[in-house]
Amino acid sequence: MINITVEEHNGERRNLEVPVDMGLNLMEVLKAYEYDIQATCGGMALCATCHIEVLEGTDKLPEPNDNELDTLDTLPDADMNSRLSCQLRPDDTMDGLVIRIKALQES
Ligand code: FES
Repeated sequence: MINITVEEHNGERRNLEVPVDMGLNLMEVLKAYEYDIQATCGGMALCATCHIEVLEGTDKLPEPNDNELDTLDTLPDADMNSRLSCQLRPDDTMDGLVIRIKALQES
């Protein structure tokens, strides 16, 4: 189990306990915590509805692959700290990550 923090719209931070041994990606974890992520592509790095901004811990993450980069490129509000949560598989190195769910802030 690791801890990942989500900063909500109102600035409050919520700590999530995230299993690293269940083979879930971060998008699936966020959905399990009832964040309303559409994930219409089912985690294929195509729909960008799982867009997150990494506030702390960017250096803990693996580099994005080409598919993820291509999709992030299509987003007007993406920046250096943007990632697609479906492409991130929580592991021990991600303990302490702090994120904001961009896709939910647009609605
Ligand atoms: S779920 Fe579609 S890009 Fe991540």
